[in-house]
Amino acid sequence: MTRRVLITGATSGLGRELALQLAREGCRLALTGRRKDRLAEIAQAAQELGAEVLPLAGDVGDPACVRDHYAAIRAGFAGLDWAILNAGISKSGSAREGFRAQDFRDVYEVNVFGMVNWIEAVLPDMLKAGRGAIAGVASVAGFRGVPRSGAYSSSKAAVIALLESLRVDLRGTGVDVITICPGFVRTELTSRWKPQDMPFLMEPEAAARRMIAGIKRKQRLVHFPWIFSATVKYVVRNMPGFLYDRVASGATYRRPNK
Ligand SMILES: NC(=O)c1ccc[n+]([C@@H]2O[C@H](COP(=O)([O-])OP(=O)(O)OC[C@H]3O[C@@H](n4cnc5c(N)ncnc54)[C@H](OP(=O)(O)O)[C@@H]3O)[C@@H](O)[C@H]2O)c1
Repeated sequence: MTRRVLITGATSGLGRELALQLAREGCRLALTGRRKDRLAEIAQAAQELGAEVLPLAGDVGDPACVRDHYAAIRAGFAGLDWAILNAGISKSGSAREGFRAQDFRDVYEVNVFGMVNWIEAVLPDMLKAGRGAIAGVASVAGFRGVPRSGAYSSSKAAVIALLESLRVDLRGTGVDVITICPGFVRTELTSRWKPQDMPFLMEPEAAARRMIAGIKRKQRLVHFPWIFSATVKYVVRNMPGFLYDRVASGATYRRPNK
């Protein structure tokens, strides 16, 4: 059967690249994003590659909008095989220069509640069908508190934990939960940063290939590029706090390239 895939945040970066690669595989694609012009452009590009596309313009942080989008997916595709929950935003800045609760609300609204809204929408049908995959895009930045990224880093830590809880809860149901932790990828999200501040920077094409391969293999945790992500996951994450504080503050206290 032709695979039916939802990609949230398909209007740029990783989501756009995932859409193009899965279109080449002949998938049926439900694509979301707020920018209607960008959504129309990627929908057309995916259609030209042979995919059936359902473009769904709207905000992942709005539960009513997500419910409407899933109703459209049910009507058009009669459900989903994969839900790739990728939409995300980042706000950076040192707490020394201003700590704003609103930044956290904004980032959590998309990165955490945007994902949670979609899980609520897709899960009952996947459980009924006894199959499906929910792939959530977290980040290597969720493995430890990253300086100048309190809102983003903590939102991704929340995503890693919520997906792990979900995976354990759904064990044996036929619904797979895949956590994806990319390192640095060249997209709009990272465009404010200097390349020299992003070790092992990847292109979105290679990152999307790695994500798709990980979902097909039903990997619990997909992290890349391997040397960078494994160093953070196995070495930095296990570093004693006193050492991490020194290394992290000394190594990364730089202003973003505004
Ligand atoms: N790039 C990296 O280095 C990197 C590393 C680790 C993890 N990630 C994660 O990868 C995911 C994709 O990011 P990216 O790097 O591809 O960035 P990007 O190019 O900025 O893409 C972000 C996507 O999310 C969508 N989005 C943002 N807010 C939304 C909202 N409220 N409702 C619906 N869609 C929304 C954007 O579409 P609209 O603006 O049209 O709504 C866009 O399509 C994010 O979760 C990010 O945290 C990225």
